[in-house]
Formats: sequence, C-alpha cells, structure tokens
Amino acid sequence: MRTLVAQRAQVKVCDNNVEMATEAAKEVIRITNGAIASRGKCTIALSGGSTPQLLYDKLSSKAFSSQVNWSNVHFFVSDERCVALADKESNFGNAQREFLSKIPVPVENLHPVKDPTKAKAAVTYEKEIKGFFELADGEFPKFDLILLGMGPDGHCASLFPNTKALAETQKICVENLVDKLQTTRITFTFPTINEARNVMFMVQGPEKGKVLKEVLGAGDTLTYPAQHVVPEAGNLQWILDKKAAAEFMKSGAGSR
Ligand code: 6PG
Repeated sequence: MRTLVAQRAQVKVCDNNVEMATEAAKEVIRITNGAIASRGKCTIALSGGSTPQLLYDKLSSKAFSSQVNWSNVHFFVSDERCVALADKESNFGNAQREFLSKIPVPVENLHPVKDPTKAKAAVTYEKEIKGFFELADGEFPKFDLILLGMGPDGHCASLFPNTKALAETQKICVENLVDKLQTTRITFTFPTINEARNVMFMVQGPEKGKVLKEVLGAGDTLTYPAQHVVPEAGNLQWILDKKAAAEFMKSGAGSR
C-alpha cells in the first residue's frame, strides 16, 4: 500500500480489494474506538452501492468485530434509495443483511430512513437526526465517520452531477430527483458531509480512474460533486485500489 497526500486528503492506494477492505476496516475500528473513548459513543453514516460489501465482510469477521463495543455505536446512512428495507436496492437494508445483523449492535442504535418510499421521508430523517444530535435550527450533525463511494461520474452519496441537491446549504438531508436514473433518492447534503469529524471514500475499479485523477488532482475547477467534499475541520481520506488510482498515480500528483 502507498500513502500519498492530495488536496489536504490522505490517499491510500491498495494493491487489491482484500487490502482495501482490511485498511478500511482498520480505519473504521480506529475512528470508532477513538470516538467512544472521547465521547462515549460513535456515530457512523454508511454509504451505499457495492463497494462497502468488502468492508462489511471484514468488519463482521470475528477478528475485527471483537475489537469494538458495538452497543456504543449508532448507524445511519449517507444516502438511500426510495425502496423498502427488504429491497435488494436498499442501502441500509443491504448494510443490515451483510453487516449489522452479524454484530451485537442494539436495534435502537440503527437509524435507517423511515418509510423511504413515502414522500417527505427526507424531512422525517432530518427530524430524526436533529433529535438524535440535539441540534438547533441551522446546525448540522457532527458524525464521527461518514463513509462514501464515488460513481464514474464523480457523484457521491446521491449528490449526482446537475441535480438540485448539489446547491442545498440549509438542510441536513433532502430528496433529490436524479434524472439520469429516472428516480428520486434521499441524500445527505454537502454541509452535513463537510461537518463530519472523518470522511472516508472507498473507490475501486478502472472505470473511475479518469474522474478520480481530476478529483484528487490540483485543479481548482470544481467539476465533480466529490470535489465538494472538503470537511471543515474533519479528516478526509480516500482508500483506493490501484486500478482506480492508476491515472492519478501516472499524473505524478500527490506526495509521499
Ligand atoms: C448509492 C451510493 C453511491 C455509491 C456510488 C459508488 O446509493 O449508489 O451511495 O454514491 O457509493 O455510486 O457505487 P459502487 O460502490 O457500487 O461503485
């Protein structure tokens, strides 16, 4: 594995997806135990898509899951599809099936989007988050860790290019119509993501290499949504496989 710095972010390039999963799991455990030691609890927002599967397999293995007192950890989701939890497309449903059901986390610590198929689901989720974090109006939650993936178009969470949610500055989460997918999603907004103590991207696959080079490169033009993830005071790290990182590494960007 190589560790570089780019755009104030730590970038770890792993040889394969096993190394990626191991590195990500170690980071999740480190951040989680640090949060519990400092504040008595840890709040994690899980990402969607297929990449987290690697991480879920590792974290639910005894070697890793035994390192955390999961009764102090609360799980949310950084974006959700408007489908029932039982649907294979559900991000929280998938996390539950592949990870949360395999660790001793109390059900009251699980915070999926309630009734995601219903209108106003994002409003209800925002209310739940505001209540949990005891926020006044205008305040944003400080998650200990927000996990994100990135699509080949540079989207993260469900903040897709040319969608309304990109410009949201007041709300914690919103419904977002994604024309190209012909669907509405529920997503954290950039102010929420950028308020986190730690943001960790996991990105694998050559199809993301070109955009990743732009996102991690020195360019100032903010072309892709993922470039708007710049935590105010938190840490940002990217855990990549070498196929996704190839273009970025060729560009010589980043320093040891
Ligand atoms: C979603 C995700 C989305 C995902 C990226 C990467 O609901 O689809 O949250 O932002 O993280 O599209 O997806 P893969 O991990 O499947 O490449």
